[in-house]
Amino acid sequence: MNFELSEEHLAVREAAKDFAQNVLKEGVIDRDREMRYPKEEVQQMKELGFMGMMVDPKYNGGGMDTLSYVLAIEELSKVDSSCSVIMSVNNSLVNYGLEAFGTEEQKQKYLTKLATGEQIGAFCLSEPEAGSDATSQRTTAIDMGDHYLLNGTKNWITNGGTSDVHLVIAQSNKEAGHRGINVLIVETAWDGVEIGGKEDKLGIRASDTHSIMYTDVKVPKENRIGDDGFGFKFAMKTLAGGRIGIAAQALGIAGGAYELALAYSKERSAFGKPINQHQAIAFKLADMATEIEAAKMLVYRAAWMKDNGMNYDTASAMAKVFASEVAMKTTTEAVQVHGGYGFVKEYHVERLMRDAKITQIYEGTSEIQRIVISRNVLKKHMYIPMSKGEQ
Ligand code: CAA
Repeated sequence: MNFELSEEHLAVREAAKDFAQNVLKEGVIDRDREMRYPKEEVQQMKELGFMGMMVDPKYNGGGMDTLSYVLAIEELSKVDSSCSVIMSVNNSLVNYGLEAFGTEEQKQKYLTKLATGEQIGAFCLSEPEAGSDATSQRTTAIDMGDHYLLNGTKNWITNGGTSDVHLVIAQSNKEAGHRGINVLIVETAWDGVEIGGKEDKLGIRASDTHSIMYTDVKVPKENRIGDDGFGFKFAMKTLAGGRIGIAAQALGIAGGAYELALAYSKERSAFGKPINQHQAIAFKLADMATEIEAAKMLVYRAAWMKDNGMNYDTASAMAKVFASEVAMKTTTEAVQVHGGYGFVKEYHVERLMRDAKITQIYEGTSEIQRIVISRNVLKKHMYIPMSKGEQ
């Protein structure tokens, strides 16, 4: 087993770290307070190639592997998870969905622009009454012959106010259950697409979360991805990869909080010595470091499994549930290590604690991940494949 990162991986990590520490950090507190979309920062992310890291170069992408993408998301999330979620949705849900399941025409028309960041994508699954229960879509896409007529409302859509292209999951045949669901490529500029107000959130406050209303939107048939009724499986397959991105985000949030707590514990003295010389603090740091390393192994391995053509459904769910719980715990402890300073914005850890919470909710709550894991474990009577031969 080789746990060493390659030269290429180290270079990607260094570039992302440099960008996060030297560009994102400066304005992150103000953007969070003002719920201000990181427009200039996203522009720089495009220039760095972060918006289409894994897409094949023939569609203008970076042609990198999932582990490179994970390393970049992790570094950005140590500082600014509003930026990393913008990147994550574009890469692992929208670009991946189009590249893996779209037609050549769809890829030429949409993916080539999404991969450079010239256009931004949104993944529109959640509804006011269908978040976890993804089969209960109320949004309808009625087959009208040469087009679908799309009606309904989507909620909590990341990139909702800034995206040019939406992948919309909608019900075309209610009687058919999950086999009656389609996924359609919709352009924001089309008639009948209306963007709701920006959500005022606990965390990732600078990211752009909106509801989107579709009223009698005419979607050409050629904008359906996959065969009729493929929408639910499309969502499940795409989310399995998306969960690796969110697990990497959680890992980064935990790592960022740990690094701040460690630095603070060296500077701050109490009872005549630095606080990390007190076992109460030293043991907290030991637990944080151990749990972050365990989360890292799960996240990196899920990425490695995806890159090696293995089934990663269980691995990505395990990575997400564990890393997001580590993020919540580590950030809470990091605030505790900082004492009163941890409770004020200037010290960054309170924001990381708020940001951590969403990683237990979006792209499938922790409860949903446990459903996925338990079903797969019970079905296969095994833990997780360690080689392709064990699948
Ligand atoms: N790959 C391929 N097929 C899959 C699959 C996968 N990973 N998971 C399920 N399927 C297939 C099943 O095999 C089954 O197909 P057949 O009937 O042909 O055998 C079909 O899909 C239905 O599967 P289930 O019976 O397991 O479906 P279910 O209704 O019980 O739901 C669930 C399963 C895991 C709970 C699912 O609904 C789910 O994942 N829900 C959470 C959705 C979610 O993550 N929402 C987040 C919104 S997106 C977001 O947050 C983006 C953002 O902006 C940041």
